[in-house]
Amino acid sequence: MRSRVRSGLAVAAAVALLAAGAVPAGASSRPAPGGSGAGDPYFPFAGNSGYDAVHYDLDVRYQPPAAAPAPLAGQLDAVATVTIVPTRHLTSFNLDLRGLEVDSVAVGSRPATFTREGDELIVTPRTILPRGKEVDVVVTYGGATGRPRDIEDALYGWVTTRDGAMVASEPDGSMTWYPVSDHQTDKATYDVAVTVPEGLVAVGNGDLVGSATAGGWTTWEWSSREPMASYLVTASVGNYELRQWTTPGGLLNIDAIDRDLAPAASAGLAQTAEMIAFFETRFGPYPFSSFGAIVDDDSVGYALETQTRPIYSTRANEGTVAHELSHQWFGNSVSPERWADIWLNEGWATYAEWLWSEHDGRTTAAENFADVMATPATSSFWQTIVADPGPLGLFAGAVYDRGAATLYALRERIGAEAFDALSLEWPARYKDSVATTDDFQALAEELSGQDLEAFFDAWVWTAGKPAVP
Ligand code: ARG
Ligand code: ZN
Repeated sequence: MRSRVRSGLAVAAAVALLAAGAVPAGASSRPAPGGSGAGDPYFPFAGNSGYDAVHYDLDVRYQPPAAAPAPLAGQLDAVATVTIVPTRHLTSFNLDLRGLEVDSVAVGSRPATFTREGDELIVTPRTILPRGKEVDVVVTYGGATGRPRDIEDALYGWVTTRDGAMVASEPDGSMTWYPVSDHQTDKATYDVAVTVPEGLVAVGNGDLVGSATAGGWTTWEWSSREPMASYLVTASVGNYELRQWTTPGGLLNIDAIDRDLAPAASAGLAQTAEMIAFFETRFGPYPFSSFGAIVDDDSVGYALETQTRPIYSTRANEGTVAHELSHQWFGNSVSPERWADIWLNEGWATYAEWLWSEHDGRTTAAENFADVMATPATSSFWQTIVADPGPLGLFAGAVYDRGAATLYALRERIGAEAFDALSLEWPARYKDSVATTDDFQALAEELSGQDLEAFFDAWVWTAGKPAVP
């Protein structure tokens, strides 16, 4: 396996260093600055090193645009309390923050100095932060909000809308609205309170703690007890109607449906309970304490599987609802360790759409697979390397469709029994964690007893159309 070979070499190198009396940088007991990235080659400045962020307490006041003059701009004023645990003795450390103004930073209740460099907020505390000792970092910040775009020029992050904001941050857009270690290798729990003009609703992930109105402003408090990757955090603001209901299986759902939308826009949510029950038979227990949907009448051009509460642009179609639901297992609970591994999200979610469609008596998985394989070998579709699509290829069609076809072909290769075991064991073994393509191959080999090196080589590591097994 390609990167397993690489990590094997890295381990050998580390062992050699240790034998020579050297200490790897991360384990040094000498105080040093933290790093500016989590080590993801696609987004080198996403996330940070030198600490783990374990909890975010975000207190945000947001005033949406007044009338609707272009460009849309809102006003955000916030205090973020980030609880971190240093993984080495730290003289300084970084958070990711793009735009906005930082008024002050305190570390362990003492004022700290800070500088900004690109998307990095570099914080220097008064004293060295000892390894392993949890400490709160309080950042007071704010400013005008706009309509940020990702490297592909798609809207993402805190996207200001006419009547609020749509917050959808894959892959590194959370830094557009709060100081964060913006990479999925640093999952954390969240308490998010959003204060908006009375009449508007702010919808977050997880459980609704409550809402309170005073002086023409309403504060909406949300809590996520299960660890969450930063790209899955939302706090969308709009003219929503909240609908709370419980599945026959006992799972709380909170849907936020824009009052300005016709009923047809959310008709695709009708079978949510059946979908949850069906996916639980295939993928194991639903991984979080609640679910729901945010359907906004504004658009960022796509839907996103924001944790426990996917967000939809103008319409929630049934297939998309199945797709975003399945991401709760594939992507949210088990997240890609590096962005190169995104096919483990999108391939699975597309394959899950195929399963649901077949279960619901429409197009079968075999038909969907045949449809992908009908793409001529000369098509540029086959040129994407699924397990390494590049930062501009994260959402390429092949990541979704060839990714799903890979899973279908894997089932043909290892048999239904081993594949069904894999579908249950993958979300179980890597629950609330991250994993790589090599981890997936290794588990498939473990459960099937087969050498799948050539299979994965052909399907995800090589350009060109693979042969049908
Ligand atoms: N993960 C989302 C989904 O498959 C898609 C996000 C697309 N993002 C983008 N910038 N194009 O549902
Ligand atoms: Zn998806």
